[in-house]
Amino acid sequence: MLDQGAAPPKLDPQRPSQFGRLMRRKPVELLVAEGGKGEGGTLKRSLSMWQLTMISIGATLGTGIFVVLGEAVPAAGPAVTLSFVIAGLTALFSALSYAELAGTIPVSGSSYSYAYATMGELVAWVCGWCLVLEYGVSVAAVAVGWGEYLNELLAGTIGWTIPAMLSAPPGDGGIFNLPALIVVLLAMVFLLGGAKESARANTIMVVVKIGALLLFCAIGIQGFKSGNYADFMPLGMAGVSAAGATLFFSYIGFDAASTAGEEAKDPQRDLPRAIMLSLVIVTTLYVLVAAVAVGARPWEGFTDSEAALAGIMKDVTGQAFWGTVLAAGAVIAIASVVLTVLYGQTRVLFAMSRDGLVPKAFSKVSPRTGTPRVNTVIVSLFCGVLAAAIPLGELANATSIGTLFAFALVNVAVIVLRRTRPEMRRTFRVPLAPLFPLVGFGFCVWMMLSLDAITWAVFGVWMAVGLVIYFGYGQRRSRLQTQGAEAAVAPSKESGQESGQESGQEK
Ligand code: ALA
Repeated sequence: MLDQGAAPPKLDPQRPSQFGRLMRRKPVELLVAEGGKGEGGTLKRSLSMWQLTMISIGATLGTGIFVVLGEAVPAAGPAVTLSFVIAGLTALFSALSYAELAGTIPVSGSSYSYAYATMGELVAWVCGWCLVLEYGVSVAAVAVGWGEYLNELLAGTIGWTIPAMLSAPPGDGGIFNLPALIVVLLAMVFLLGGAKESARANTIMVVVKIGALLLFCAIGIQGFKSGNYADFMPLGMAGVSAAGATLFFSYIGFDAASTAGEEAKDPQRDLPRAIMLSLVIVTTLYVLVAAVAVGARPWEGFTDSEAALAGIMKDVTGQAFWGTVLAAGAVIAIASVVLTVLYGQTRVLFAMSRDGLVPKAFSKVSPRTGTPRVNTVIVSLFCGVLAAAIPLGELANATSIGTLFAFALVNVAVIVLRRTRPEMRRTFRVPLAPLFPLVGFGFCVWMMLSLDAITWAVFGVWMAVGLVIYFGYGQRRSRLQTQGAEAAVAPSKESGQESGQESGQEK
């Protein structure tokens, strides 16, 4: 078992080669020993298993089901239910890998830290940079979806909507998405109050959103027509997998609990449970809601993606009231995604900053609240402006490709850590390893290949920018660079073990 109070391995300055610098790994013991420690303060350990599960559900269940479903149905037809299953399987295999690593290396950096411990600094940076897509950019995408449902709610209650000019970004018929900015700033206020307080608010919102989706199923099933399923796969398997790749967005976030490793009361026990439990709950809800939605509305009718579920409620009951109730549920649901995903982004950057790869401001901790306040403000402003200025569709696919890349790396990390550190205590083990992690990796690659060329181009540009930042800033300021290289050990060919950890030599 890892002794969380153990002194970290000493760092001994060395001069590794360029290749050695790219491959240097951070020892698991050092990652864990640093747990919670930031500049000027320490994160508070206050989160229970239940709250961690709620963080993962909070981060997952939102725009994907309330908004993106409406965009995916025209691609897959009624077989969108199958698309959810495919996307869910991709998530499941990766979730197993996340559960193993979160229980073994329970720190804030999530897959970034797992990659640092197993595949070296360059891969860790690439992973962390992908996590900015998964968390930071997805906050923006989700906040945009929030604005759509807010308008639906306003229309149903006071008969007025925020004009397009102020509720849509340029390119989508507006000049600025004000609601998207507002929801991000609201989440920021909660997060500044503390992790425990944010987790409490999130739990209430999660209960409301699960209730709203169950209500949708109960009402939507009354409009179910089996004829809507007659042509199950109108656009073939290609349509199903393309929709699956788009819908993968709806699973993003189940790993959010893994960013709370340094604030969990018993991370080694609770993180794996929270990750797996949240995924089971979310997948069940998705398949149910999708099956009811395409049963209640012919797939050709899903042309207008905005607030699709609320529209179906209205159609089935003939009463605008129920659509408004669902819109209210969605407004709360999506706000909780913004809150928890924003939380995840701040914690990943916290870990990267502690390692020196991004500026120190991100790991400053307020002694009063035990939260990274400066980090929270910077990330919120960045995400808020992005949300206000960029259309949702572009953002959702960019987010998915970055997440899939990070998940693929997590699957590889499990295999590497099993080989390099077989003796470590694992509170959860992926069954049938290395087969399952390899299947998880394969699913991620398949989903990535199902995304369109524009998304790949955006991803290529994103990675190029990330590499420029790494070579221009991160590599030089890395703590393993400035404080020593004993911990920075490239893999040893002879043993396949972190032999340098024992010898203190770069191979
Ligand atoms: N999975 C999150 C959502 O669907 C990002 O909103």
